[in-house]
Amino acid sequence: MKELLRDNIRDLVPYSCARDEFTGEAEVYLDANENFFDYLGDGYNRYPDPLCRDLRVEIEKKMNLPFKNTVIGNGSDELIDNLIRIFCEPKKESILIMPPTYGAYKVFADVNDVACSELPLNKDFSIDIDGFNNFSKLNSDSTDRCKIVFVCSPNNPTGEAQSNEVISELASSFSGILVVDEAYGEFSDKESAVDLIDKYPNIVVLKTFSKCWGLAGARLGIMVADEYICEVMNKVKAPYNVGIPAQKAGLEQLSKSKDILIERDDVIKRRNEYFEKFKKLDIVEKVYDSDANFLLMKTKNSDQICKELQKKGIIIRNRNKDLHCRNCVRITIGSEEECKRVFDSMSEINL
Ligand SMILES: Cc1ncc(COP(=O)(O)O)c(C=O)c1O
Repeated sequence: MKELLRDNIRDLVPYSCARDEFTGEAEVYLDANENFFDYLGDGYNRYPDPLCRDLRVEIEKKMNLPFKNTVIGNGSDELIDNLIRIFCEPKKESILIMPPTYGAYKVFADVNDVACSELPLNKDFSIDIDGFNNFSKLNSDSTDRCKIVFVCSPNNPTGEAQSNEVISELASSFSGILVVDEAYGEFSDKESAVDLIDKYPNIVVLKTFSKCWGLAGARLGIMVADEYICEVMNKVKAPYNVGIPAQKAGLEQLSKSKDILIERDDVIKRRNEYFEKFKKLDIVEKVYDSDANFLLMKTKNSDQICKELQKKGIIIRNRNKDLHCRNCVRITIGSEEECKRVFDSMSEINL
C-alpha cells in the first residue's frame, strides 16, 4: 500500500495538535489557546476531538464498522478530495470514473490538477467489466498511471448497486485504490463492500450521514479502509475537520438508529410504490430500478417537465446532459405528501 502513496505524503510529518497529545481528563486546559469562557454553555469554546473517538465507538456498535478502520470526514466530499490528494501526483497521475456518476469525483480531480479518465457504463448502466480489465492491464505498466477508480454503488444518478462479486473482480484486477462510494448503501439490499476490505485492502468504502441518517447539514462522512490508509488519512486531513456540533448530531442520530431504520424502510416502500406509479404516466418512457432513495426516469421532454414543475414550486433534477440519460430526470423520494405533489403535478403535464 505504501508504494501507492505520493512521495510527499509518505514522508509527511503531520501537524500535532494539542488534543492529539493528551486524551485523559484534566482540570485545567491551557494548552490550545482557546477562550476559557463557555459562552453557549455546551463546550463549543473547546476544540473538538480530532479523531471523533466517541462517534466512532457508536458507529462500530450501530453500523458495525470497526473503530480501527474508520475516519470521519467533513462530509464524504472531504474524504474524496483527500483520497485524491493522498494517492495522485498532480499533472502526472489520474483517477478513473464510470459516467454517468456522481459529479464531484471529477471536480475534486480538477481542483487537484489530477487527470480524470472515463470508462462509461454500458447503456443498461452496468459496469463494462471487459473494458475495465483491459484498462487495468494497460495501467499497471504505465508510469503516469491511474491510482484511484471510483465506483459509486448505488450509483448516483442511475440508482443501481453493484454486487460484491463485481466489486471483488474490479479490486483484484486493479493495482491501485478502488473507492466504493456507498452514500446510498442503506437503501440497498446488496451486501456492503466493507466485508471485502480484509481480502482486498485496496478497497476503500465511503459512507455518509447525509442520506439515510438525515444529517446532510451536519457534514459527516465515514471512510472505512485498511488501518494503514486510515493512518495516512488522519495525517492529511485538517486536524479539527469535524466540529463538536456535528459530532454531537451524529451521536444523537445513532442513539435513534432503530427509528431511523424504520423511516428508511418507509422510504424504500414509497420508492417501490412510486416506481410503479411513475411507470404508468404518459410522459414517462421508463423508470429505472433503484437501490437508492431516488428514481431516475426517462421522459418525453425533461427540460419541459422541470420547467412546468418549477412553476409550481417543485424542484427535481434534470439529468438530460448526463451520458445515456437523454431526457432523464432524477426525483428524490421525499415524504408521502411531497411525492404525491410531484406525481400529481406530473400527471397534469401534457407534452
Ligand atoms: C454518491 C455520492 N457520494 C457522496 C456524496 C456527498 O456526500 P456528503 O454529503 O457526505 O459529502 C453525494 C451527495 O449527493 C453522493 O451522491
